[in-house]
Amino acid sequence: MAASGFRVISSVFFFLFRFLLFSTEAVPVYSSHYCTDSLKFEPNSTFQTNLNLLLSSLTSNATEGSHFYRTRVGSAAPNSITGLFLCRGDTLSAACHDCVAAAATEIKQKCPVEREAIIWYDICMLRYSNQSILNNIVPGVDLFNAKNVSVKELGRFNKLLANLLNGLASKAENSMEDNRFATGEVNLTSRETLYGLVQCTPELSSFYCKMCFSSAIASVPNCCDGKQGARVLLPGCNIRYEVYPFYNSTKSLNPPVLQSRPSGIVVVLFAWLLIVMNLNSLWFCLAQEGIMLK
Ligand SMILES: *[C@@H]1O[C@H](CO)[C@@H](O)[C@H](O)[C@H]1NC(C)=O
Ligand SMILES: *[C@@H]1O[C@H](CO)[C@@H](O)[C@H](O)[C@H]1NC(C)=O
Ligand SMILES: *[C@@H]1O[C@H](CO)[C@@H](O)[C@H](O)[C@H]1NC(C)=O
Ligand SMILES: *[C@@H]1O[C@H](CO)[C@@H](O)[C@H](O)[C@H]1NC(C)=O
Ligand SMILES: *[C@@H]1O[C@H](CO)[C@@H](O)[C@H](O)[C@H]1NC(C)=O
Ligand SMILES: *[C@@H]1O[C@H](CO)[C@@H](O)[C@H](O)[C@H]1NC(C)=O
Repeated sequence: MAASGFRVISSVFFFLFRFLLFSTEAVPVYSSHYCTDSLKFEPNSTFQTNLNLLLSSLTSNATEGSHFYRTRVGSAAPNSITGLFLCRGDTLSAACHDCVAAAATEIKQKCPVEREAIIWYDICMLRYSNQSILNNIVPGVDLFNAKNVSVKELGRFNKLLANLLNGLASKAENSMEDNRFATGEVNLTSRETLYGLVQCTPELSSFYCKMCFSSAIASVPNCCDGKQGARVLLPGCNIRYEVYPFYNSTKSLNPPVLQSRPSGIVVVLFAWLLIVMNLNSLWFCLAQEGIMLK
């Protein structure tokens, strides 16, 4: 009787201890995902095997302290698969690894039979496709903070926000040493500060990075006008702003808990952008194959 009472008490303590430990860890927070439903594979096929290999290779490469890794498994169509992960520029290696591991597990649940999928977490993104040329602009998702900017502040807020995001974008798209990542802040009032973050996949050229940021920034007035915080998540880049510090900089080491809500897929991005992207990808493809006319 006494022994079993002790066991109960000790397991309660054990549980509390684990709970406390667990709750102080930074658990990666899922944001959104997209499965390309038109591209499916058969369960237990070679493609499935390659996908599993790809996901474990991405996860194991996230231990190296690297924030970005792209790889390809399988040498020939239709079973070859290209995938990558990107962690937010301010993430520590351990947090990056945990996030990529969570993303790799979760994407299999969310998109079990798709040849192409993408998943976003608060601090990382993971995607794969059976195409070797990845679209950087679609699919896109926006999330926003439900709190509104007060109507009389809105004009000034929007002006400062546009300046902040455009400034960060031009900084990030030209800086390879910061892995195309930039954060910054502006004073809204004497007591309020606006914090911004932009990040592009490091493999993108300045040109594509700039195009991706332009597309993300251009969608803010449509999705998130008047919101105190928002994110636009595209495959090739992402942007975020909030009225509280949410990233780790030398000034803010303890960001508060993130709170944003999914609002749905960014439906239409400029058709011309897609056309330009596709033409450029085709050109890039031909140029890589060496069959482009000199
Ligand atoms: C795939 O393989 C697993 C175990 O190897 C098996 O349980 C499952 O039924 C198979 N699924 C299909 C669709 O063949
Ligand atoms: C990284 O991925 C490659 C395959 O793309 C794999 O050969 C290598 O072992 C991985 N690195 C680690 C540390 O797991
Ligand atoms: C990707 O998968 C789809 C659907 O199975 C297929 O039609 C397409 O040819 C594949 N693309 C490549 C590059 O293998
Ligand atoms: C930010 O820094 C704190 C303290 O160093 C750390 O616990 C936290 O994991 C960091 N956040 C990220 C996203 O890496
Ligand atoms: C913010 O504004 C929108 C429309 O202007 C309104 O529907 C919403 O309820 C407001 N949210 C809050 C938290 O006040
Ligand atoms: C923002 O305000 C703080 C103190 O109120 C000041 O030290 C800082 O220089 C201001 N920053 C900018 C960019 O104006």
